[in-house]
Amino acid sequence: MNVTVTGAAGQIGYALLFRIASGAMLGPDTPVRLKLLEIPQGVKAAEGTAMELDDCAFPLLAGIDIDDDATRAFDGTNVALLVGARPRGPGMERADLLEANGGIFGPQGRAINAGAADDVRVLVVGNPANTNALIASAHAPDVPAERFTAMTRLDHNRALSQVAHKAGVPVSEVRRLTIWGNHSATQYPDLFHADVAGSPGGALTADTAWLTDDFIPTVAKRGAAIIDARGASSAASAANAAIDHVDDWVHGTPAGDWTSVGLPSRGEYGVPEGLVCSFPVTSSDGAWHVVEDLEIDDFSRERIDASVAELAAERDTVRGLGLI
Ligand code: NAD
Ligand code: LMR
Repeated sequence: MNVTVTGAAGQIGYALLFRIASGAMLGPDTPVRLKLLEIPQGVKAAEGTAMELDDCAFPLLAGIDIDDDATRAFDGTNVALLVGARPRGPGMERADLLEANGGIFGPQGRAINAGAADDVRVLVVGNPANTNALIASAHAPDVPAERFTAMTRLDHNRALSQVAHKAGVPVSEVRRLTIWGNHSATQYPDLFHADVAGSPGGALTADTAWLTDDFIPTVAKRGAAIIDARGASSAASAANAAIDHVDDWVHGTPAGDWTSVGLPSRGEYGVPEGLVCSFPVTSSDGAWHVVEDLEIDDFSRERIDASVAELAAERDTVRGLGLI
């Protein structure tokens, strides 16, 4: 399998590449060829990482290509992890960030359209991930839109841990949590359909002070809390979430559970068609399926709608900039 990683010389790239090469993402029987895409200034550091990958002598690593050209980097790719993005600098507004990233994700979408393998699966990690996925997909008309996904698995995993701590159970006992909406502070981590050690997760929601003042903001603002504590944004946990996302996409989700993925809406749960929104999803036969017909009460509806409104505003901004 050809795996393209953009932003390969960055923090997340450094935490991701060794695990992919070890087989943690595609399994112990699948050799991988890594195709690393960087901007010209990042190529030397990517070469250094490639030297270290070589030095690990991973049996599954079939080769490494390093490029600063998107067309070559996505040629024949089966899994594309779009990590490289322009970070927000001082004085930059959200629209500036969307514009700067439109200049990255539009051409990358075109390169995927031109040369990726027929079964290509794309995961956008670089922020703002949902709208970057929308931009990339808009430039890849020959690739089915549902192959472009945005990462909310990190938020999902964060929510699992918070609930496990609160309930005093192992993380493996927490199932069917959902992250709805955007990978941003408006996201809504939903416990109402969860199963916590065999009991309805809804029982935890009876503690409304914990739910509204602790759980929801802790999950939604965790990215900022990590930046504050580490002085840099999450990297190993983001890489881990990317591995989990692709592993589930390729190998399926466990029976009786689901996960969260930013997927182009087909109108599920009243989310306007085309917005790349995080939903509860299962995976089987190599494809995501939105879990349908969950009952959504007013508490959840209000929060889902707020995050979806933010996604619609981001879409309108990039549309206004001519990026989609
Ligand atoms: P980083 O700054 O350490 O690395 C980014 C790398 O991308 C750099 O090496 C840079 O040279 C490269 N790059 C920039 N433009 C590129 C382009 N056009 N093509 C190829 N490479 C390019 O950043 P990081 O910590 O690795 O984070 C990467 C992105 O992931 C950021 O946007 C960050 O906000 C985002 N992120 C998302 C999540 C999530 O849950 N979705 C979690 C953590 C971080
Ligand atoms: C995260 O969730 O850790 C990242 O998206 C970083 C951020 O800016 O929140």
